[in-house]
Amino acid sequence: VHDDNENIVWHRHTVTKALRAEQKQQKPCVLWFTGLSGAGKSTVAGALENKLAELGHHTYLLDGDNVRHGLCRDLGFSSEDRRENIRRIGEVAVLMADAGLIVLSAFISPHREERQLVRDLLPDGEFIEVFVDTPLVECEKRDPKGLYKKARAGEIKQFTGIDSEYQSPLSPEIHLAAGSHAIEELVAQCIEHLKSQQIIS
Ligand code: PPS
Repeated sequence: VHDDNENIVWHRHTVTKALRAEQKQQKPCVLWFTGLSGAGKSTVAGALENKLAELGHHTYLLDGDNVRHGLCRDLGFSSEDRRENIRRIGEVAVLMADAGLIVLSAFISPHREERQLVRDLLPDGEFIEVFVDTPLVECEKRDPKGLYKKARAGEIKQFTGIDSEYQSPLSPEIHLAAGSHAIEELVAQCIEHLKSQQIIS
């Protein structure tokens, strides 16, 4: 009797996550950057990805604005939509980690509950929460896209930190004082953590 399901199981067991990771000489993980708009999530994640690539690692960066143009183009910024945004991205990150990659994601992801949901999708040690901790006053001063100005003027509603809540991580694996350190120092802090956890050598 021909059983399709059995064949699928057989294939899945032949090339495993462990084998894919071994080929990459790295431990897969998801570096989950979280922080306010303008905190520097994309900048630090991008710089860290450059460094990892330089060291020969296979990475993928899931970035807020880009994902919202594609995978999550139907979603806005209500609590419900943000939850769905993070859920989808979490599932994609899990697939990419399963492929053996070091995944970096850079989304505000303002709610603890949703970040916890993504953490729960991954084996212990594979979800690395990176708190890009830049004070609101500094983000607002930077205002790279002019969005805080618009939010203060009431032209954008439900803006994180203004009229929509941001819940800081309580015990992130990596806590970056991003308002007062140079990008290179923040990248070095991340690299040190990845080495200490034997994600890279
Ligand atoms: S979330 O909360 O995780 O679903 O948000 P995310 O997908 O990371 O998208 C955040 C970027 O969208 C822009 N933007 C807003 N941010 C917060 N609140 C509101 N209302 C909003 N409207 C648009 C903003 O440019 C964010 O980009 P970053 O890179 O975080 O500054």
